[in-house]
Amino acid sequence: MLYEHLLWPKDLIDLDQFTTEHLTAVLDAAENFREVSEREIKKVPTLKGKLVVLFFHENSTRTRLSFEVAAKRLSADTIALSASGSSMSKGETLLDTARNIEAMNPDALVIRHSASGAPSYLGRRLKCPILNAGDGAHAHPTQALLDLMTIRRRLGRIEGLKVAIIGDIAHSRVARSNMIGLKTLGAMVTVAGPPSMMVGGLSDEYGVQVYSRPEPALDGADVVIMLRIQLERQSGRLFPGAREYARVYGLNAQRLALAKPGCLVLHPGPVNQGVEMTPEIYDCPQSVILDQVTNGVAIRMALLFLLVDNSERKGSQPLA
Ligand code: CP
Repeated sequence: MLYEHLLWPKDLIDLDQFTTEHLTAVLDAAENFREVSEREIKKVPTLKGKLVVLFFHENSTRTRLSFEVAAKRLSADTIALSASGSSMSKGETLLDTARNIEAMNPDALVIRHSASGAPSYLGRRLKCPILNAGDGAHAHPTQALLDLMTIRRRLGRIEGLKVAIIGDIAHSRVARSNMIGLKTLGAMVTVAGPPSMMVGGLSDEYGVQVYSRPEPALDGADVVIMLRIQLERQSGRLFPGAREYARVYGLNAQRLALAKPGCLVLHPGPVNQGVEMTPEIYDCPQSVILDQVTNGVAIRMALLFLLVDNSERKGSQPLA
């Protein structure tokens, strides 16, 4: 294990906080933690006596369950709070709510929020580590890390791969965090999507190649990450209809044939079935969409291990 010489931030906001060494260390730690989930007794005492609060102000299936499973497999106690079940529904502010949570001495606060910047806002005001579980259209660092892990497990490396990210780039926090993580680890990244779902300046900001059609982005790709159409973050109608979108941008067998043989197919979920990809692609042997979910637990175990009170365990081994 090579964690002890690295300094870890108090909060995880996005992957631009991490060097190549940090990203590699998280992926390596996650490989060790993945084995815990395959044991008969799926638990290690790493975070025994610690409290992890899961504050999901926006709906989630995968990320919320995955953080909860990860914390429990590390023997931490967990409490989950949602916006509708909290006093925010009575008008309490995000900061007041978070301060009240902190008054109960949690060891980490995992937050998902529809507002970009909410996790870093809290991170600057609270003492406990804040882990970003997705904020608006800004960042989803744990999703990008589990995508990196899935790619590295299947293809043995990230460096030198061509990775195509296709769909609603403008509203996608997954795309943003993945562009950072993939470029940091040496991948060549292409992005494609309808002009109404694209933002300017991506080439300069992230060093990616931008296309308005999926075909050139897919040409010779080792990996394709299809994105969900983020209807909840779109202010107007950005495409004529689901059938039109599927016809021009959806992943089907003909489009996938432009990529390298064996090209991996990823999607962060939830999938709009038949829109972002055909059902045949969702279930094809190259689809690693459910592997992504399995790897998500290991990534979140690694991050909780590395960030929660890491000064106490500096230099220790993660498994027992
Ligand atoms: N990938 C992802 O963030 O899924 P959820 O919205 O279900 O957490």
